[in-house]
Amino acid sequence: MTENLTERPIVVLGGLGKVGRRLVPALRDGGHPVRVASRSSEQHFDWHDTATWAPALEGARAVYVVYLQNLFSPEAAVRLRSLGELARSLGVERVVLQSARGWPEAYPAEVAVRSSGAPWTILRPAWFFQNFSEALLVHPLVAGEVRLPTGDGREAFVDAQDVAEAAARVLTEDGHTGRLYELTGPRLLTFGDAVAEIAAGTGHDFRFTPQSAEEFAAEMRAAGVPEPYMYMDTEEFARMESSLFAQVHSGANGYLTDAVERILGRAPRDFAAYVRETAATGVWDKQPS
Ligand SMILES: NC(=O)c1ccc[n+]([C@@H]2O[C@H](COP(=O)([O-])OP(=O)(O)OC[C@H]3O[C@@H](n4cnc5c(N)ncnc54)[C@H](OP(=O)(O)O)[C@@H]3O)[C@@H](O)[C@H]2O)c1
Repeated sequence: MTENLTERPIVVLGGLGKVGRRLVPALRDGGHPVRVASRSSEQHFDWHDTATWAPALEGARAVYVVYLQNLFSPEAAVRLRSLGELARSLGVERVVLQSARGWPEAYPAEVAVRSSGAPWTILRPAWFFQNFSEALLVHPLVAGEVRLPTGDGREAFVDAQDVAEAAARVLTEDGHTGRLYELTGPRLLTFGDAVAEIAAGTGHDFRFTPQSAEEFAAEMRAAGVPEPYMYMDTEEFARMESSLFAQVHSGANGYLTDAVERILGRAPRDFAAYVRETAATGVWDKQPS
């Protein structure tokens, strides 16, 4: 559909990320004008430089808010409240926050948006399938072994494409203001199950090795912070990763929701379809540079 340029745009923060790069075409295909805002986008926006915020939000109808990875940090709540207040003062009609399911430490960031006075919706996605192909887990996977302290804890992995399509609906349809949706896939898997499915789907000898929380934290501290997350120090990064995996290990994430189906009117995509399609791209066949 052709973009309706008389409409006020929908701003997508983090529009080049795993969800954002799927959300932007979903919105444009629906005819909605979109403004992508991040450090390397045409519309410059930096969470660490408040002077870039108002120009990015000016004239917007709605904003999709992807914060940095450390949603649990006290400054995340401070910044998200300020952004919500700014959005309200600029007349933005919908502020949709991408939070995270199963991470209670991140919930103060949600409260910050909810109490900013902006019309809010919260999406809490489960772990993305794409962590195995577009984020940190791709490196150990392709090297042959994923070591994590998740034990037999099951996770309701969800496709970032489903998160993006649900976000597009929430940003453009009525009836979602003041609502919180936990977005999950259709099947519970341990991290070991997920690695085994990718191994079977690619024919590669990929293994999952369970670790203790102590072994994992020590490895994190020794390895330091990977390049995309250099805004955290080693201690904060190790603490964040440990708390996320501890939550999985505890079994607290082992439930499914019907939120994707309620929003999209269809079942969420299964991990098997993701493995089939991603294996065909060759991303699991060689060590990423
Ligand atoms: N991964 C998961 O399984 C999962 C599940 C649930 C929730 N979450 C949450 O989702 C968020 C991440 O979303 P994602 O995985 O879709 O994104 P992502 O792939 O990590 O991409 C990050 C985006 O943020 C932008 N960015 C990085 N630093 C920035 C800065 N200082 N200022 C402004 N923009 C910046 C990047 O663009 P530039 O480089 O151009 O700035 C990029 O577009 C996190 O808050 C995470 O906690 C993740």
